[in-house]
Amino acid sequence: MQVLEASHLQKTFRERGRVFPAVRQVSLGIDAGEVLAFLGPNGAGKTTTIKMIAGLIWPDEGWVKIAGRDPHRDATALRSLGAVLEGNRNLYWRLTPLENLEYFGILRGLSRRVARQRSHALLERFDLIEKRHTVTQSLSRGMQQKLAIAVALIHDPQLLLLDEPTLGLDVEATQHVKGLVREIAAEGRAILLTTHQLDIAEELSDRVAIINQGEIIAEEPTPVLIQQFSGTTYCIELEAPLEGDRLAKAESLGAVIEGYRVFVREPDLLYRVLEILKPLPLVRVEKDQATLTDVFLKLIQG
Ligand SMILES: Nc1ncnc2c1ncn2[C@@H]1O[C@H](COP(=O)(O)OP(=O)(O)OP(=O)(O)O)[C@@H](O)[C@H]1O
Ligand SMILES: [Mg+2]
Repeated sequence: MQVLEASHLQKTFRERGRVFPAVRQVSLGIDAGEVLAFLGPNGAGKTTTIKMIAGLIWPDEGWVKIAGRDPHRDATALRSLGAVLEGNRNLYWRLTPLENLEYFGILRGLSRRVARQRSHALLERFDLIEKRHTVTQSLSRGMQQKLAIAVALIHDPQLLLLDEPTLGLDVEATQHVKGLVREIAAEGRAILLTTHQLDIAEELSDRVAIINQGEIIAEEPTPVLIQQFSGTTYCIELEAPLEGDRLAKAESLGAVIEGYRVFVREPDLLYRVLEILKPLPLVRVEKDQATLTDVFLKLIQG
């Protein structure tokens, strides 16, 4: 089921008489249980798109549907939406985590009793229960970030928008947030995630959409995108450096040898070279795989 449908979103900013198209004809869809990584360089239009999806700024053109309802026309659409925007703006710094959760729960239509129950469950789950009475201002950045995600989930939304959820977090907090994103998707929620940490996007996303200068320039399932940019080079790793007769034979077939490692360009050649290497002990045979970073740089730099 499609939880998010955004169609042909367009946003032009006007600054001192200059017209600046920040988002051009952007369409996105996310199914229940799916994580879409929405990637692009600084200023590409990610946050502007997310704000249009969240109903915070009006698109000049196009429309948004969250669980079938348009947040710009029907405020009940916001019941299906949780968002963590750039810079934790969904928290009150002077309130405690428990107060923040209860406050936002009631604001989004929960009864006091349900808000309290869900707040406790989320504090447990996000490992914040011991800090429930500490003012948010005094929490570490990682804790504040986890609280921001918990608050976005208080009303049990079907769609979660996460704009750079791991920005500024240390390794451990990043791991925890990554695990939470996975769990939240496994519960059947749709997640739109922006991040500049492409290794995280690669690990977490089912699909990737890349935006550059306001336009989507690629959108594919993550493994498909990576595959498209991967070469057909194989690397055979041996236990000991290749020498003598075998080295000469492999080279004559076109293999490139660097000590323990033998590189071959095509699958056919791979088997012929393996035949020559037999019965030397192998460590691994690996296909050269692009990373999402390689793909991203190639697409953005053209
Ligand atoms: N309120 C505004 N008024 C004028 N221009 C704006 C406004 N908001 C955003 N822009 C411009 O729109 C463009 C897209 O900005 P946006 O914040 O959407 O980028 P982004 O992809 O989120 O970038 P980053 O990765 O740096 O967060 C930028 O050139 C920005 O300066
Ligand atoms: Mg942004």
